[in-house]
Amino acid sequence: MPSKWKLHQLYSKHSSLRKHLPPTSLLTKKSLSQYLNKYQAVYIKGKNQHTGLGMIKAWKTENDYRFVKVQGKPLIEKSINNLYHKVTDGRPIQSILVQKAIDLASINGRPFSIRLMLMRDGKREWQYAGMLAKVSGEDSIVTNVRRGGGYATTVDDALAKSLGYSSDQIKRKNEEIIRIGFEIIRHATDTGYRSHETGIDLGIDNNGKVWIIEVNLSYPSHALFNRLQDKTFYRKIKSLAAEYQET
Ligand SMILES: Nc1ncnc2c1ncn2[C@@H]1O[C@H](COP(=O)(O)OP(=O)(O)O)[C@@H](O)[C@H]1O
Ligand SMILES: [Mg+2]
Repeated sequence: MPSKWKLHQLYSKHSSLRKHLPPTSLLTKKSLSQYLNKYQAVYIKGKNQHTGLGMIKAWKTENDYRFVKVQGKPLIEKSINNLYHKVTDGRPIQSILVQKAIDLASINGRPFSIRLMLMRDGKREWQYAGMLAKVSGEDSIVTNVRRGGGYATTVDDALAKSLGYSSDQIKRKNEEIIRIGFEIIRHATDTGYRSHETGIDLGIDNNGKVWIIEVNLSYPSHALFNRLQDKTFYRKIKSLAAEYQET
């Protein structure tokens, strides 16, 4: 599985996908300080970290620096040096990324991200299998449903409740998301990555812009889709997986 950094580099070379990537750098004292000065908040994540584990959100205030690890009340550090030591926590340098925090659209104050599933069918052709919105739990900085204590709902519901979208706007945003998903897959497979099931995490900001948060080229969760009341996507995922296995 390619690291988050490899994937970022891969997509930053793509002429139309690059604008959907949040600015991202390897974490150093210098990049941390630059990002904190430039953006309202940043995310700090391990290149090979998954399931929201160890995820950190940090920001600068007038007097100090604050950060949250996964969930809970912010901790305070007086200096950038102290913050740097806390967020790196003895991990090898070059294994951690700093990224602009996307101002994610939210439902009742809880941000959500979108999980899009694309899968190969029995003919080895990519198909759209479904998408859903993962809504963060209280005080959580991640939308990973199991880690963050959040819940899943439909993308249509999330877009209507967060951004007040009409059914026309929802339809157009759905089409844009799926189109971006297929471009993501095409670029990965064209450059030699192998996958037959891909789960893409996308963010929608408060202006409706789509951001690529992460691309999971192997073993994306099926169970997440079983959390929706409507089982259409879950059944589609199971049937595409079975078709692929049989051929
Ligand atoms: N740059 C970001 N801006 C806003 N939220 C983010 C950002 N990066 C991560 N998150 C939040 O953290 C969650 C987990 O991040 P992700 O990069 O998908 O790592 P993981 O592999 O741990 O799932 C995302 O689904 C999202 O809710
Ligand atoms: Mg993720």
